[in-house]
Amino acid sequence: MSYKIKAFQTSQMEAKYTLQQLALRNGQDKPEIWVAYLGKIYDVTESRLWRNGKHYEHWAGQDLSAELKDAPHTETVFQKFKQVGILI
Ligand code: HEM
Repeated sequence: MSYKIKAFQTSQMEAKYTLQQLALRNGQDKPEIWVAYLGKIYDVTESRLWRNGKHYEHWAGQDLSAELKDAPHTETVFQKFKQVGILI
């Protein structure tokens, strides 16, 4: 019984990643392409606009919170992407 409760709690927990782990998802080192924005990490692997980890002059695998102000769009662009975890 206690085993089942533990398994449930694990599945509900948010995955946490460090900047170093995020850096590997830059479109070059691992197949996944991730971008962090305001503490949340999004999987943009399926986006053709982030192919090979590059988006205009920006690179994936980083916390790009401060860079959004340079974009011609708002944070609503993240809506259609899955949040894979949080940045710690
Ligand atoms: C010079 C800076 C940038 C330019 C010129 C740029 C341009 C664009 C354009 C034209 C689009 C598609 C149209 C739209 O959704 O409005 C787009 C989508 C997107 N941008 Fe940017 N962007 C820039 C910076 C950034 C930054 C810093 C981030 C992350 C913090 C970002 C994240 C995204 C995402 C997630 C999408 C959606 C991709 C998709 O729907 O496949 N962009 N960007």
